[in-house]
Amino acid sequence: MKVLGIETSCDECAAAVVEDGKKVLSNIVATQIPFHAPFNGVVPEIASRKHTEWIYDVVKEALNKASLGPRDIDAVAVTNRPGLLGSLLVGLSFAKAFAWARNIPLIAVDHMMAHLYASQLADHDSPAYPFLGLLVSGGHSIICRADAFDNITVLGTTIDDAVGEAFDKVAKHYNFGYPGGAVIDRMAHNGDSGAFRFPMPNLHKGEHRYDVSYSGLKNAAINQFEQFRVKKDAEIKPEDIAASFQKTAVEILLRALFNAAADSGLSTIVAGGGVAANSYLRARLAERQDIRCIFPPPEFCGDNGAMIAGIGFHHLIRGDRSPLSVIASARVEGFKKKYPGSRQ
Ligand code: KG4
Ligand code: ZN
Repeated sequence: MKVLGIETSCDECAAAVVEDGKKVLSNIVATQIPFHAPFNGVVPEIASRKHTEWIYDVVKEALNKASLGPRDIDAVAVTNRPGLLGSLLVGLSFAKAFAWARNIPLIAVDHMMAHLYASQLADHDSPAYPFLGLLVSGGHSIICRADAFDNITVLGTTIDDAVGEAFDKVAKHYNFGYPGGAVIDRMAHNGDSGAFRFPMPNLHKGEHRYDVSYSGLKNAAINQFEQFRVKKDAEIKPEDIAASFQKTAVEILLRALFNAAADSGLSTIVAGGGVAANSYLRARLAERQDIRCIFPPPEFCGDNGAMIAGIGFHHLIRGDRSPLSVIASARVEGFKKKYPGSRQ
């Protein structure tokens, strides 16, 4: 079955056609990065306007690349949560119109669950459930247990900033470039990760055993970096700041992740989200002989339509359908960790 996947939750206008949840027939990602770069961050108003301008051509291109017409599509899957509301609404409205015009099922998909599914696209074997999920993007840092493609229990998350956001903010402060994650990753290859010893958050005990925090590291790397220099008389290279920041950012994630692996007894980890492209994270996880870590190919780490179509297929064969009245939501309650005694 051929599913059209539409993704407009942030700054990528994306559409793809995927057959039977695995075979990617086309995957078009029109990035808005050049339009947001002057502002060093995503401007929601620009994002939704660009999606409105581009969505028709992006979907048309996805069909053309797959050598298909609208009549060959069996269902439309679309991100409706979480994300920027104005951006989500563009893809969702387009998907509704497509599904209504063709009288085919509409399937509203959770963006973060789709990121977790991304590693199963293309030739990759599907890992057996349950496994641990590491979902790391510009808006989320989630360590979870996955019991099925849409049955996810959040074990830990960030108590302040998301990991990708920290990469972006540090890069913005130093004018390294935008978006910051890929730039810092590249710069770090030429830097000394031991030049600065940035602090780790004190979160490894009790209810925060699987949680992460990035505001302390971000503040240290931006405002107090002199304080954490290892050799005070050495010349400061931007690459050293990038490498030392990246090392600590990844170690923070790994500490919480390894706690979760040890406590749960789960030794398969599936990663997803833009930060899953990080080469240092991949290298560090590859060192662990006792853990199998599955990463999506780089083109499926960032936002894309293929992961939406892929997970959409599993909803489709289970009989899930979304009504044409389905709404978009900026946040998802299910992705908040509940702490004992909290009122969330
Ligand atoms: O999943 P994604 O494309 O969009 C969201 O759903 O947020 O993730 C974007 C995030 C950005 O913060 C970006 O800086 C980060 O992923 N990112 C990276 C790398 N490539 C992208 N972070 C670290 N290393 C990378 N190589
Ligand atoms: Zn994403």
